[in-house]
Amino acid sequence: MIFAANFKMNKTQKEILEYFSNFNFDGVNSNIMFALPYTSLSLINKLPQNNILYGSQNVHFAKKGAFTGEISVEMIKELGADFSLIAHSERRQFFGETDESAALRAQAALDSGLKVIFCVGENHRQRRANRTKFVLKRQLIKGLKNINNSQNLIVAYEPVWAIGTGKSATATEIQSTHAFIKGVLFSMFKTDIPVLYGGSVNIKNINDICNIKNVDGVLVGGASLSPDTMRELIISGSKK
Ligand code: PGA
Repeated sequence: MIFAANFKMNKTQKEILEYFSNFNFDGVNSNIMFALPYTSLSLINKLPQNNILYGSQNVHFAKKGAFTGEISVEMIKELGADFSLIAHSERRQFFGETDESAALRAQAALDSGLKVIFCVGENHRQRRANRTKFVLKRQLIKGLKNINNSQNLIVAYEPVWAIGTGKSATATEIQSTHAFIKGVLFSMFKTDIPVLYGGSVNIKNINDICNIKNVDGVLVGGASLSPDTMRELIISGSKK
């Protein structure tokens, strides 16, 4: 099981250091990933290291150049980042991320040896119009079309209507959508790609979600912001 936390635009350096000094990692053996704000990546070498990966929430595809406000793969690697989220729905929704730009970012990050958590998900309107599978397939095929080596690729299924709303998808929805995503990924890469679920994961639903077939882990936003809650999510989600 993979437990990935997305801090989004939360926590200063001081708060990140407090978070990790309060995090009790005793008895926690799962694969854990923290997507930090860029401003805290320089703290990585001061943070706990066993089985824990740290990364960014986005990364640019160009090596360098006139891209004001963007950050390159080399810049985050220099600070010790192991991975980046790519194409989170908030990037798609608020910052103009397209399937095409996401494809370039994923390719640049994977080519450099970083791991990538590539996010896909339908919005409420698409879901109501019964277009979920069509949208997911398009996001996967266009967004991952340049990828030759899928070894470091993880996909996160995050229905947009479930993010930060307290309303997660049902077990049946998650199971069938993950099966669909795994099928598309298998036809592209001829191997099993881990698929995480994200969208209002919390203490109440973690155990059920982690026991759903084809769920290889979770991507957690709001509930990851407290070290005690994140610990509890990892411990209950690791129980089979
Ligand atoms: P949430 O966010 O857990 O707060 O719904 C998940 C995400 O956006 O990655």
